[in-house]
Amino acid sequence: MSTGISISRLTVRFGPVLAVDNVSFDLADGEFVSIVGPSGCGKTTILNMLTGLVPVQEGEVTLLNKPPSMGNPDVAYMLARDCLLPWRDAMDNAGYGMEIRGVGEAERRSRAADLLARVGLAGFENKYPKHLSHGMRQRCALARTFCLDSPVMLMDEPFGALDAQTKMQLEDLLLELWTARKRTVLFITHDLAEAVAMSDRVIVMSARPGRIVADIRVPLERPRHVRALQKDHHFLEIYADVWARLEEGLGNSAGAA
Ligand SMILES: Nc1ncnc2c1ncn2[C@@H]1O[C@H](COP(=O)(O)OP(=O)(O)OP(=O)(O)O)[C@@H](O)[C@H]1O
Ligand SMILES: [Mg+2]
Repeated sequence: MSTGISISRLTVRFGPVLAVDNVSFDLADGEFVSIVGPSGCGKTTILNMLTGLVPVQEGEVTLLNKPPSMGNPDVAYMLARDCLLPWRDAMDNAGYGMEIRGVGEAERRSRAADLLARVGLAGFENKYPKHLSHGMRQRCALARTFCLDSPVMLMDEPFGALDAQTKMQLEDLLLELWTARKRTVLFITHDLAEAVAMSDRVIVMSARPGRIVADIRVPLERPRHVRALQKDHHFLEIYADVWARLEEGLGNSAGAA
């Protein structure tokens, strides 16, 4: 399998602060990998380097065997904030990334309409963000991200600000979209259940300076349904393992709650 993302001996310093310390990991093409780790351990920094937003200081980073560069069409980025433009309706927001990339209007509208329908927003194409609920806005952002049709997707806590129920719906939706069209996904979350339910592997980082303390395979069958998994004993074993490794990285053995 070819390599979707490769990070080798990445070290990041912000002035005197060592933020990321000698981190290496690879994602095969089409693999779904999550990173979990305490706040400030460098997760967002790693994504920012992959997008070319922050230059690589030490180590090597490649996406599809090329160095990161800003505006790389191979990469789509999704954040916890939906970043929708208030003066554009759902259709034009979903098509916004494509517009920046120069996709023609007819193609944009057809792809945006298709993705909006798939995320459950058919009939809301002409609504503005202020008329949409938080979960609907994040669905629209998910549609915009998938519209880009980029082989690599970087997601920084995309469902972090949603209520538990909406979050589960969107997790299932993301898995469905990903299954239909495999992309390499690097997914950051603080929710360990989410990480295990979605991923092929979960990478656990330590508190700052961020180091990798574990890279745990999740050999659960697909297709998966997030809610059903919560009762699966194999899922629960892996979840407990991720928790234990995370605690190791915190340098304490405090309770999991
Ligand atoms: N532009 C910057 N200038 C200075 N320090 C920075 C900068 N960006 C990040 N840092 C520092 O690097 C460390 C890692 O930050 P980062 O945002 O990557 O953490 P994170 O793992 O994403 O945390 P969270 O889970 O809270 O989002 C932090 O100590 C942060 O203060
Ligand atoms: Mg972050």
